[in-house]
Amino acid sequence: MMAVAAAQKNRELFAIKKSYSIENGYPSRRRSLVDDARFETLVVKQTKQSVLEEARSKANDAGLTEDEIVLANAATESPEAENALQSAALVVRLKDGMSSLGRILKAIENYHGSISHLESRQSREEGVQHDVLIKLDMTRANLLQLIRSLRQSSSFASINLLAENSISVKAPWFPKHASELDNCNHLMTKYEPELDMNHPGFADKVYRQRRKEIAEIAFAYKFNDPIPFIPYTDVENKTWRSVFRTVLDLNPKHACAEYRAVFKKLQDEKIFVEDRIPQLEDMSAFLKKNTGFTLRPAAGLLTARDFLASLAFRVFQSTQYVRHVNSPYHTPEPDCIHELLGHMPLLADPNFAQFSQEIGLASLGASDEEIEKLSTVYWFTVEFGLCKEQGQIKAYGAGLLSSYGELLHAISEKPEHRAFEPASTAVQPYQDQEYQPIYYVAESFEDAKEKFRRWVSTMSRPFEVRFNPHTERVEVLDSVDKLDTLVTQLNTELMHLTNAIEKLRSPF
Ligand SMILES: [Fe+2]
Repeated sequence: MMAVAAAQKNRELFAIKKSYSIENGYPSRRRSLVDDARFETLVVKQTKQSVLEEARSKANDAGLTEDEIVLANAATESPEAENALQSAALVVRLKDGMSSLGRILKAIENYHGSISHLESRQSREEGVQHDVLIKLDMTRANLLQLIRSLRQSSSFASINLLAENSISVKAPWFPKHASELDNCNHLMTKYEPELDMNHPGFADKVYRQRRKEIAEIAFAYKFNDPIPFIPYTDVENKTWRSVFRTVLDLNPKHACAEYRAVFKKLQDEKIFVEDRIPQLEDMSAFLKKNTGFTLRPAAGLLTARDFLASLAFRVFQSTQYVRHVNSPYHTPEPDCIHELLGHMPLLADPNFAQFSQEIGLASLGASDEEIEKLSTVYWFTVEFGLCKEQGQIKAYGAGLLSSYGELLHAISEKPEHRAFEPASTAVQPYQDQEYQPIYYVAESFEDAKEKFRRWVSTMSRPFEVRFNPHTERVEVLDSVDKLDTLVTQLNTELMHLTNAIEKLRSPF
């Protein structure tokens, strides 16, 4: 609980300070997940810097590392905090062999610490014989004393405290269960109609009131609630109809086969009809049946980290409001027409759903810089991706499939088409003023997934995560026990697979 509370505090601090405008450093006038991620990195860096500077002056010790400063700062909050038990991990590099390990263990005993894990290995560093990892529980005050006293000895090349229980702002908090997505609703507000004079609904009081009412539904929403029904007005349904017709017109020719197949299914099930905006609850049930994806109503654009985290749980955060009637073919922010026509069909495709979830899983615990890269990959694939199909280029990106103008531009000869390679796609600058000059083309979703997996394995996160669909929980695979459980599950799956293959080979 302490870890979650600390992380929440950091997130609140971050939320208060941010204001998404050019004047405050937001990188562009047009909103995108990529620019959001870039801006969040900047704000988090500034916030972290000021938190650390404050902590450093309080700790009054120039020799402490970043984690230790945060620990020292936490210890000064109150006498209870000083004496609170802290789980920590120390990495000690021994210069003169294992004989000095005894001194460390004695010191831990003297400071009333209890060791939960001890591990040593030959060091690869010159002049150091062994690296020792010690996981322990100790009061914060004693832990700082222990570190200081060990540093005075010449037997140790270095002593490092590794953050545990999120004592540091370095390890970003992430949800471990789908219910914790209730905490992932940090909004960005730049394009709400009442805040932006250029918004098509700025001067329309009725529209602004409507947006407010629908936003309230999302704010009140909690995990496992049914998504409230919205009786869309005739005007809203008319806007839907206009866009729906353009999609019907263009997509048979330019959308990828997977999109077309699900689109037809949605028509057959009468979820996609011309005269009525689908309800998110009906769409969520459809997705659940096909790939296990579900929807949560979102009041507007979320932070990139929150948005990506939801995908890890096969949850898509979808807006429920409708763009302004005067601007049916253009919206400065995503609305439910974009979400429904652009995103939903492919979220019901097993391969694409898996790809989306893998982007989400890769984002959990990622650094701010990596969130930027993942957002860029997301942008050039899920939003604006192209793919090959029998020698032709087809669209699968939601931003293309729900936008008449950009779709025609993307598949034309004008822009450059490059092969999708996550490492280079992730650092490609995003053009925010007009249509993209570059689009990335995937061989197939399967191929895109494979390349993405290889690239993610090079990221800095020191642990692997896995989504357990039975518990809707993300498991951090950081212990032998957890790996054992996973191996048992995989063996069972493998047995089913082998049996099925054998039965297919010899049916009699
Ligand atoms: Fe989108």
